[in-house]
Amino acid sequence: MAEKKDVVIIGAGAAGMMCAIEAGKRGRRVLVIDHARAPGEKIRISGGGRCNFTNIHAGPKNFLSANPHFCKSALARYGARDFLALVEKYGIAWHEKTLGQLFCDHSAKDIIRMLLTEMREVGAELRLETTIDSVERHGDGFRVMTGDGPVDAQSLVIASGGKSIPKMGATGLAYKIAEQFGLALVETRPGLVPLTLDPAQLETIGELAGVAADAEARSGKTAFREAVLITHRGLSGPAILQISSYWREGQDIVLRLMPDIDIASILKAARRSNGKQAVQTALADILPRRLAQFFADGAKLTGKQLADLSDKTIDALSASIQAWTVKPAGSEGYRTAEVTLGGVDTSGLDSKTMQAKTVPGLYFIGECVDVTGWLGGYNFQWAWASGFAAGQEA
Ligand code: FDA
Repeated sequence: MAEKKDVVIIGAGAAGMMCAIEAGKRGRRVLVIDHARAPGEKIRISGGGRCNFTNIHAGPKNFLSANPHFCKSALARYGARDFLALVEKYGIAWHEKTLGQLFCDHSAKDIIRMLLTEMREVGAELRLETTIDSVERHGDGFRVMTGDGPVDAQSLVIASGGKSIPKMGATGLAYKIAEQFGLALVETRPGLVPLTLDPAQLETIGELAGVAADAEARSGKTAFREAVLITHRGLSGPAILQISSYWREGQDIVLRLMPDIDIASILKAARRSNGKQAVQTALADILPRRLAQFFADGAKLTGKQLADLSDKTIDALSASIQAWTVKPAGSEGYRTAEVTLGGVDTSGLDSKTMQAKTVPGLYFIGECVDVTGWLGGYNFQWAWASGFAAGQEA
């Protein structure tokens, strides 16, 4: 005999738990199933253990999707301030770090405890360390074959996340289920991920590993202004993670280091006031020392004095720093990617409820959907908003 539930949710991550709370509030008998040992593992490790749980400025412009309008309805119905109100109801201390990013003062575990308490209060059941063997249509609803036996439900919500960090239990289950029910997928790829350089490039910039600088990182028409970090494998830091979601293999990334500074004007003024100064010393007043040396070497100007430089040479040196063009070889992949771009094609989903248009009762929420946020609390906001939307209906 199969166990009977109103709603089965696969995945006890951010989206699945939010959906369970909302469906539970409507009096639905909810079961959340996860193969992991603990719920919300990605919440636990997020934001360096302090969970960047939302972004106060979150809006549709902060998300990538084949249909940029799809996320509007859910974000409008459950915004950053709604989640913040829940956090405050639990007395969880928080702070704004930068650019609207809200973090817990103490621990991401506070957020997990809050969600579990809410789930308990509405009677939503959580079953961990339980595998999903198959999912099929059964009467008007669904039958989920689990390692613990069959469960029947009127509504089935897929909240099993994307492919990022397989070591933490990420699987492609959501995509398989989508395909099984005839839903289209948008090709998936790692997002918010460090970029790698080929061995020849690494040889030239290898000595810069560990150097960070303020920069604007540009790919095509999109640019992000934050720190760039040079690593022993390539490029990282928030500006690179952000632009990685827009970058494609074979494309260049253009870095404008010290974007607020007009380096050419500063060097020309220094040439007038202190012409005997060595080029690399003058640059070290503007850039981290190792970068200054790197660009002076690259322009074959190390050891030269500013007075030796023509306007043209200064302009070219400045351009090498403020339009530094790098062609990444690839990315670090799902092993370290914070998110998965692409996923269940939104054209097959109702934007108000997250329900599959052709399969009544089947819902997709969170990261498995082709809606991916920037770095900075946006991805959790999508998980909360899409989970909330499905929870009103499932
Ligand atoms: P999520 O991946 O959280 O949950 C899916 C659940 O489904 C998991 O519990 C998993 O075990 C389960 N599951 C998967 N396959 C299954 C299967 N076959 N059977 C049963 N269960 C299965 N975002 C942000 O906004 N702020 C931040 O600070 C961070 N920080 C951050 C750090 C790191 C290191 C990473 C990797 C990611 C972030 N993110 C983030 C992104 C954020 O974690 C992500 O967008 C959300 O966790 C997505 O929530 P979901 O609920 O959709 O999936």
